[in-house]
Amino acid sequence: MQKLELTLAIIKPHAIKNPIALSYIRNVLRNKFVVVKTKRVSLDKESASKFYEEHVGKFFYNRLITFMASGAIDLHVIAHCNAIELWRRILGPTSVYKGQFKEPNCLRSIFGLSDTRNVAHGSDSLESAAREIKFFFPDFSFYKWHNDDEELYR
Ligand code: TYD
Ligand code: MG
Repeated sequence: MQKLELTLAIIKPHAIKNPIALSYIRNVLRNKFVVVKTKRVSLDKESASKFYEEHVGKFFYNRLITFMASGAIDLHVIAHCNAIELWRRILGPTSVYKGQFKEPNCLRSIFGLSDTRNVAHGSDSLESAAREIKFFFPDFSFYKWHNDDEELYR
């Protein structure tokens, strides 16, 4: 039997401001995953920089931080077998333009406005999912979800 996995989905500021995008994405989350926790926050630039610290120095970094701190974002901890891969597959490629050619039905292809304003975030590995969920939900208990990976989630 496959193990239940958790990942962090973040709905980015421009999608929060678009009611059609927001309700479409929420329906996808509700229909395809178990939504474990949800929270709306507004990041300041300092928190956004910390969250995206793996990208420090890249050409898009300042633009990304300014954008992520430009309005409210919705955080969703979601669960499914292979949730990390599944959510990233539903999102589609990071680059909205590439996605619109290759995978036009993905969320980023439908609602994305640019490579930076690409609708939503998804953790890219078990390690990043653990770090990112802890970042926003420091009291979150992983034990009941990840019995085999206790060390990772300690
Ligand atoms: P990255 O982790 O590479 O992509 P993903 O979100 O698919 O895991 O990049 C983080 C975010 O940085 C990405 O969602 C949007 C922004 N970004 C740009 O603005 N331009 C780019 O060329 C890249 C690669 C990312
Ligand atoms: Mg990433």
